[in-house]
Amino acid sequence: MSNIARKKIIRDYYSQRAKDYDRQKQRTWKSSSGFGIDVTRQLLRALRGHTGKRVLEVGVGSGRNALPIMEEIKPWLVGVDLSKEMLKVAKTKTANFAESIDLVLGDADHLPFADNAFDAAVIMSTMHYFGSPPHVLRKLQKTLRRKGVLVYGDVSEHKSDDNEFLETLEKTLSKAHVGYYKPSEMRKLLETSGFNVSKSRTLAYRKSYQALIEDKGCYFGVKPEAFYALVQETDISTRKHYALTSAELTLYYTIIVAAKSNNVPE
Ligand SMILES: C[S@@+](CC[C@H](N)C(=O)[O-])C[C@H]1O[C@@H](n2cnc3c(N)ncnc32)[C@H](O)[C@@H]1O
Repeated sequence: MSNIARKKIIRDYYSQRAKDYDRQKQRTWKSSSGFGIDVTRQLLRALRGHTGKRVLEVGVGSGRNALPIMEEIKPWLVGVDLSKEMLKVAKTKTANFAESIDLVLGDADHLPFADNAFDAAVIMSTMHYFGSPPHVLRKLQKTLRRKGVLVYGDVSEHKSDDNEFLETLEKTLSKAHVGYYKPSEMRKLLETSGFNVSKSRTLAYRKSYQALIEDKGCYFGVKPEAFYALVQETDISTRKHYALTSAELTLYYTIIVAAKSNNVPE
């Protein structure tokens, strides 16, 4: 599939999903088995000291991270996203901070910013849509000033998932998805893209099949039977890695904090 065709699919997906997005995320992230508070806490901790500084969020979406960043850190924030509808939600949500936040329709593959323009960059739950994460990271590396901070977060594969179970599962549910990384693979990619990793944490959380179908499959006309057939065919070791039951599984979210290094990316 061409890059342009994939981005159209992503845009269409999020234009339909924008009105449901925060509710869907809250259901998993803020549930008793959720991990949302932990992720937000780590994000804010990484951005401590950035009051009045320039922060870029790529894939700002509905402003789910931008709002706590504005409330707690108070930087000047630029949020870029492919979806106009997601940006509208973010704009409403962050209206109290309108003077210090710019929400821009744009593409991570073509960031229009000068070198050294930002003190920090945030990229949460978005990397798995990029055709070339190394390309985006190299550009972000240049966009950051010396020792600038990068906060990355995304769903990750189980470290022993060598059968690509999560990829197969995700591609059964979503036509927008490109690829997940194992935590170690992402750390390596960051290092070769000109960053020094200072923190990396992977959090486990439970997600119901029902929620996966509602959040993803429904928007792509996926029949639940196709999804459940895949779950049933899963081998024993994969079942253990993701703790599959008849109704839910364990997923993993990795958050990595890194700083721009002096090394020029390969
Ligand atoms: C799962 S949402 C995450 C939103 C937000 N970061 C959060 O954590 O809630 C992914 C977002 O990435 C955006 N996105 C996907 N590909 C993009 C690209 N190439 N450039 C900019 N935004 C992109 C989507 O439109 C969507 O709003």
